[in-house]
Amino acid sequence: MTARNAYLTTITSLAVRNDATVRLDEVTGPFDAETKRRLADRLAAMDPWHRYGFSSERLVRFLSAPAPDARRLLMIDGERHAGVAVVRTGWLAGSYLNFLAVMPEDQGRGIGEAFLAWLAEEGHRLGERNQFVAASAFNAAALAFYERHGFTPVAELPGLISDEETEILLRRRLA
Ligand SMILES: CC(C)(COP(=O)(O)OP(=O)(O)OC[C@H]1O[C@@H](n2cnc3c(N)ncnc32)[C@H](O)[C@@H]1OP(=O)(O)O)[C@@H](O)C(=O)NCCC(=O)NCCS
Repeated sequence: MTARNAYLTTITSLAVRNDATVRLDEVTGPFDAETKRRLADRLAAMDPWHRYGFSSERLVRFLSAPAPDARRLLMIDGERHAGVAVVRTGWLAGSYLNFLAVMPEDQGRGIGEAFLAWLAEEGHRLGERNQFVAASAFNAAALAFYERHGFTPVAELPGLISDEETEILLRRRLA
């Protein structure tokens, strides 16, 4: 482990399409400020966060939150940050996938699918009965993606993030 990434702990290797693998690392130490800023800048330019007007500063704060029950995970291909996820454990008899983004140039490679498969395994390991995620009603691609991987819409949450939009809460039963 080099000094540059001493704040990361490798959790597993995710097998993605074309016989490739991507590392799944967890942020376990003070998150390197420059890396965090670069990630936040990219996320702020992506929908749905761009559409909601989330600033890079807000995303930096979100990625910095030192909550012990919020696992910050990075998908790393070689030196490149291909994706980021935040998982909150201990939520409604299970966990809540608070954030998932795969960078535009890495989408469609099976990284999201491999991550959700790892998340299910992790849930089984921890004895979780449920896993939850929320996606914006306008984010048809994300809703289809979650539904293809075992999540079912369970509630509509109008105005959760902005007055004009509705979020859809989805649940995956593990038990
Ligand atoms: C939604 C998201 C996390 C999915 O991650 P991903 O790594 O692109 O997902 P995968 O590559 O596993 O699958 C994506 C799609 O590629 C398609 N696909 C299958 N084989 C493929 C191939 N050989 N080449 C390209 N795409 C392929 C799949 O059908 C899948 O479609 P689906 O959305 O209907 O499931 C990602 O697209 C993303 O970050 N989007 C923007 C942010 C966002 O909306 N996040 C969710 C907020 S709740």
